[in-house]
Amino acid sequence: MEEISIGLLGLGTVGSGVVKIIENHQDKLIHQIGCPVKIKRILVKDLNKERLVHVERTLLTTNPAEILDDPDIDIIIEVMGGIEETKIYLKQALLNRKNIVTANKDLMALHGAELLTIASENSCDLFYEASVAGGIPILRSLVDGLASDRITKMMGIVNGTTNFILTKMTKYGSDYEEVLKEAQSLGYAEADPTADVEGLDAARKMTILSTLGFSMKIDLDDVLVKGITGVTKSDLTYGKQLGYIMKLIGMAHREGEKVEISVQPTLMAETHPLASVQDEFNAVYVYGEAVGETMFYGPGAGSMPTATAVVSDLVGVMKNMRLGVTGKSAVTPQFKKQIKEPSE
Ligand code: NDP
Ligand code: HSE
Repeated sequence: MEEISIGLLGLGTVGSGVVKIIENHQDKLIHQIGCPVKIKRILVKDLNKERLVHVERTLLTTNPAEILDDPDIDIIIEVMGGIEETKIYLKQALLNRKNIVTANKDLMALHGAELLTIASENSCDLFYEASVAGGIPILRSLVDGLASDRITKMMGIVNGTTNFILTKMTKYGSDYEEVLKEAQSLGYAEADPTADVEGLDAARKMTILSTLGFSMKIDLDDVLVKGITGVTKSDLTYGKQLGYIMKLIGMAHREGEKVEISVQPTLMAETHPLASVQDEFNAVYVYGEAVGETMFYGPGAGSMPTATAVVSDLVGVMKNMRLGVTGKSAVTPQFKKQIKEPSE
């Protein structure tokens, strides 16, 4: 391959980080895959918007077909968000035999099984590491690093926005609405932050984690969800006086074939490591029958951490392309089980 051509869907918080990493780490990318990586076209909604990163105006388009149907584009990076319209775009891209990297947990939690099946039928990779816990490589750790173990429990903080809000409210007595606005301006929150504060974003991530960790069919509807909108400053103050810190905790527990998954505000003893996870950082405990307790920690939201996961997936796809093994990703089998079940 002389050059890899990328089509980018979205140039917001994460998309801008992706452009920066591809530009600034070009030498590392060439070293990893043996040829340069070029962004050929970028889909946006508003051509006239001021951007967080400089790109040639001629790269921007509002016509998805210019990317999805371009035979010269090898890989699509989807960082535009949304569900139904985005699903149509990604299906079209896969049918056109384009590999995909996405950060979209909303889409993967709901339609991951179907999209991964289409990907493998078309010998394409569909990687989604950035969809859970931003810059922490948790999905690969579950699927590859802990491949030999039986996972029994996963517990942690998987939403950066709510952790940022709870941290500021607990430490400084900050006002909920003001800190939410700050989280939005820092690029941590979703376009509609309701999903963050109502716990749905964390529930989507727990669905993806549980599907991969437990190798089972897990539906988003199986998750008990409670967000932080009902949490008051006095809850946090009284908790602190008693030695507890409030966190939005995602919990997935398996006993035999029975699985319980929840997302809810939880008082953690201030000596517990999860109580000291601050701001937009995430942390996930994974318990395996053989390995025992492991903990994964790092930035869970924001432009550059998330873009790191996206571009690392891109490297993974490019290596598979070079080896001629796209569509055989180890991340797919558990999701594929989901699609079989309705007809069983
Ligand atoms: P932004 O809202 O910052 O950016 C979205 C981009 O997509 C914008 O450039 C927008 O165009 C473009 N876009 C959106 N809808 C359309 C459409 N219908 N047609 C064309 N272009 C469109 O989102 P983020 O970068 O924050 O998030 C992107 C994805 O990454 C989401 O799925 C999110 O859940 C996920 N994610 C985000 C993280 C974060 O920390 N922000 C972390 C992990 C995952 P325009 O700029 O012209 O409006
Ligand atoms: N809105 C999400 C969060 C982005 O705050 O965790 C990262 O997935």
